[in-house]
Amino acid sequence: MEAAQGAVRGATVAVAALAVGILLLSALQPGAQATRPLMAADGSMLAVPAQPGVTKAVWNGHAILVFATTFDELAGVDAARGLGSATNSIAGPNGLRLFALSAKSTQAGCLVGFNPTLGASRDVADYDRDGVADGRIMDPCHQGQWDAFNKAKPVPGTPAPTRLAALDLALRDGVLVASAFDGPIGVHR
Ligand code: FES
Repeated sequence: MEAAQGAVRGATVAVAALAVGILLLSALQPGAQATRPLMAADGSMLAVPAQPGVTKAVWNGHAILVFATTFDELAGVDAARGLGSATNSIAGPNGLRLFALSAKSTQAGCLVGFNPTLGASRDVADYDRDGVADGRIMDPCHQGQWDAFNKAKPVPGTPAPTRLAALDLALRDGVLVASAFDGPIGVHR
């Protein structure tokens, strides 16, 4: 009996040690990044957008813009600019597509906003052809502009030098989370 109990105890300790080892190993993986939730501007957890629109939010201390758009909008980008041109997105509520971009200008670091009355870019205003302007990311400092739906690339002819990085957004148990941007954020050329 005692031998059996000892064996069970030994097995339990071994399993616990294995679990701790796996956790340590994953934490020590080069490049391993913690997954963190997206936060609202008031410090609460960001509610998952359920309607089309753009929300100011924060991830890991970085200002971001969270977009909720339609499948047609992003399909329109691929149709106009070639397959794979649309900003990467994940499925959200009500058939929406969600993505999140750094809100820090790559020109001189000002925080950008979104002007819903403008077309998406200079050459294509309305990707989904619904007769309504798609809106454009604008910088209030020097009027840098970015096309949110086309990989957040700079709008030609504006001071924006490079694209705005996107988060590797995921929806886990009803919470929007991310672990990294897909490129440099803030000032870079
Ligand atoms: S800081 Fe953004 S355009 Fe100058």
